[in-house]
Amino acid sequence: MSASDRERWDARFADGRLAEPAPPDALVGREHLLPAAGRALDVACGRGEVAVWLAARGLAVDAVDVSPVGLAAGRARPGGEAVRWIEADLAEGLPVAGPYDVVVCQRFRDPRLYPALTAALAPGGLLVVTVLSGSGGPFRAPPGELLAAFGHLAVLHQEESGGRASLVARAAAGDHGR
Ligand SMILES: C[S@@+](CC[C@H](N)C(=O)[O-])C[C@H]1O[C@@H](n2cnc3c(N)ncnc32)[C@H](O)[C@@H]1O
Repeated sequence: MSASDRERWDARFADGRLAEPAPPDALVGREHLLPAAGRALDVACGRGEVAVWLAARGLAVDAVDVSPVGLAAGRARPGGEAVRWIEADLAEGLPVAGPYDVVVCQRFRDPRLYPALTAALAPGGLLVVTVLSGSGGPFRAPPGELLAAFGHLAVLHQEESGGRASLVARAAAGDHGR
């Protein structure tokens, strides 16, 4: 990630607009899959819609993003003080190790990070991923990418339609990493 990418996201987030806290897209209608307690990681959390929603559900949340403006907006939300906001460039890898009972990565794609996402899962941990899909640029996952990367987990839901690919999967109860 270049400094100009960070500036681009900072500029986008400087408009002061905030969406309400919300579950990750792939978990809508599947919220029962979440544990009632434990640790969660929101990767590329933006302004923290998902991070704050997870914290309100009783999870101890770490939220990572490269944009200080996005992170500040998340921190300033009602309930934002419950989240640990971490500024980091994910191009350099995950800045945290886990284990996490829930790992969310939504609307951010970096396939180099996929092994680290699974490695960060606690035994029985839940992975929730949504990326843009189709052809056209590095932000879009080619067909089948999520299943190829995460099919070794127990896949609870997966969908590719409307230019998006989503997957919800669970690590085996005795599994950490892999
Ligand atoms: C489309 S937004 C998604 C935000 C949030 N996950 C959501 O679903 O609303 C993409 C996010 O990725 C972050 N991002 C982009 N490149 C990054 C990098 N190299 N390291 C960390 N975060 C990055 C941006 O700052 C932005 O918050």
